[in-house]
Amino acid sequence: MRKWFGYILIATVLVFDNSVLAIVPFPGRTGRAIQQDTTGYVSPFRDQNERCFKCHGQSKYEYSNENLGLTVKALMCSERIVDRNQFYSSNHKSFSCTDCHSEGYAEFPHPGELRMEQKFNCLDCHGGDPAYEKYQFEEIDSEYRQSTHFKLEKEGFSCWKCHNPHYYKLNIRDNKNISEAVIYDNNLCLNCHANFKNFQLLTDAMEINIVREHNWLPNQSSHFKSVRCIECHAKANDTLLVAHLIKPKEEAVRGCNECHSKNSILMSSLYKHLSKEERKSNGFVNAVMLNQSYVIGANRNEYLNLISLIIFGLVLLAIAVHIIFRIKSSIKAKGGDNVSVS
Ligand code: HEC
Ligand code: HEC
Ligand code: HEC
Ligand code: HEC
Ligand code: HEC
Ligand code: HEC
Ligand code: HEC
Repeated sequence: MRKWFGYILIATVLVFDNSVLAIVPFPGRTGRAIQQDTTGYVSPFRDQNERCFKCHGQSKYEYSNENLGLTVKALMCSERIVDRNQFYSSNHKSFSCTDCHSEGYAEFPHPGELRMEQKFNCLDCHGGDPAYEKYQFEEIDSEYRQSTHFKLEKEGFSCWKCHNPHYYKLNIRDNKNISEAVIYDNNLCLNCHANFKNFQLLTDAMEINIVREHNWLPNQSSHFKSVRCIECHAKANDTLLVAHLIKPKEEAVRGCNECHSKNSILMSSLYKHLSKEERKSNGFVNAVMLNQSYVIGANRNEYLNLISLIIFGLVLLAIAVHIIFRIKSSIKAKGGDNVSVS
């Protein structure tokens, strides 16, 4: 019985105390051998890109070594694999690989000097272009220059480090599903802050354990699924849809009331993109707007409530069964040889 009680306790802990990193799915680059994309998007450069994808599209590639007269098979390291599906779903899906990379890459082995190639940055293409005015690239750039990561530019930090050149896709702007957008945005930070391989490229600092650093936050995994890192770490910005000024850690939001109050900071960050209409039809934001007594977090998830009730019931049951067995065995003991068990 004691064993069962233990199992149920462990199950309870697993349900409620799941580590954030195990829950948040990570869109890492996998080495799966996908041969064809399944996005349905037809790129004007599909064939041209296949020249690159035939090696960079999966974990195995081949080339013919003319000196040896052999076809050599080798493994492509995961960092150099570009997933077709994610590329053909990204903002830059209509691009040819050689719009951003030198045509020289069509050759293999790639000429050594290409490693020294200067890469375009976002503003090279988007800066001063009225077509992209609504994104406010210049304002974002100036925020980035004041952010804590900017000091790492000389180590190689750039907009591309958060905006994966092959996969970046607009999210919060046109995603009605807030939790999906939260996960997308948080994974973008966790790509370094939960992946030491990438983190160490930019600093000699020790690995930061994100879960431990946020132990002060109750229901951490639940918070990390409902709010973005930037809610607490970026300086509020009235005009930008996505604030880009990441502050030093000392200035991060810690007060529960900043969010759990009538004038929550989330109204001008995470929920900013929802129009008034959508806010009205969205249950919980609706409550914030219309019912002044509403406080974020006060209405709990019904399923969680149900699960916790069931688990509570199971625990009670286990205790009851346990007690019955104790009483039974003590009666047996008493009846058997008159030894009192208290
Ligand atoms: C025959 C296989 C093959 C083909 C085809 C190929 N690559 Fe590569 N590519 C590699 C390998 C292997 C590496 C890693 C070794 C190296 O850097 O040469 C690499 C490295 C790279 C790198 C990283 C270089 C660096 O600085 O680290 C880029 C960028 C690149 N390839 C782009 C392309 C583009 C763009 C195309 C298509 C025009 C292409 N490759 C076609 C095999 C290939
Ligand atoms: C919008 C511009 C852009 C397009 C389009 C693009 N790349 Fe890249 N690529 C970059 C940038 C920028 C980097 C360097 C990223 C960095 O410094 O973190 C890069 C890096 C790479 C690397 C080195 C490994 C890595 O991820 O850092 C490979 C390999 C590569 N690209 C292959 C490709 C292939 C294959 C395609 C076409 C399917 C492609 N690229 C299309 C901008 C682009
Ligand atoms: C080589 C030029 C080039 C570079 C570099 C570049 N972009 Fe783009 N970007 C474009 C073009 C062209 C489009 C439009 C593509 C289309 O409509 O198919 C685009 C589309 C976009 C879109 C979608 C716009 C929309 O309204 O659909 C966003 C967002 C975006 N880029 C952000 C970025 C960011 C952030 C960076 C840097 C990390 C960047 N771009 C780097 C040329 C570039
Ligand atoms: C520390 C990480 C980080 C860096 C560095 C960064 N961004 Fe972003 N950026 C984000 C996040 C997170 C989002 C939100 C993505 C989403 O949900 O659409 C975003 C969104 C954007 C958007 C879309 C905003 C909108 O209105 O929809 C643009 C444009 C953009 N970034 C440009 C840039 C440019 C330009 C740079 C470099 C000067 C840059 N970013 C550097 C994290 C970063
Ligand atoms: C490309 C890797 C990378 C990405 C992506 C990234 N970071 Fe960082 N971040 C770092 C590194 C490296 C440091 C500096 C560690 C050091 O040297 O102290 C850092 C430092 C920080 C700090 C502490 C800054 C200080 O001055 O105290 C915060 C907070 C932070 N990042 C938040 C974020 C957030 C939020 C995001 C996503 C929007 C993000 N980071 C995305 C690599 C990254
Ligand atoms: C509810 C607010 C909140 C959220 C959400 C949040 N953080 Fe933090 N974060 C903080 C506070 C407060 C600190 C502690 C600052 C201090 O130590 O004084 C901190 C510390 C950090 C540090 C610095 C640790 C160090 O010792 O250098 C990093 C890096 C960091 N957070 C990244 C993230 C990332 C990545 C996410 C998203 C997955 C995130 N944070 C989500 C509030 C938050
Ligand atoms: C950056 C904003 C933010 C901060 C800061 C913040 N919370 Fe939350 N919290 C949220 C959001 C959003 C939810 C989810 C609300 C919902 O789904 O209704 C939440 C949910 C909760 C829940 C319910 C958890 C659950 O599983 O349903 C509790 C309890 C909670 N927060 C306590 C706190 C405490 C205590 C602090 C301060 C130490 C704090 N929060 C700080 C935004 C925040």
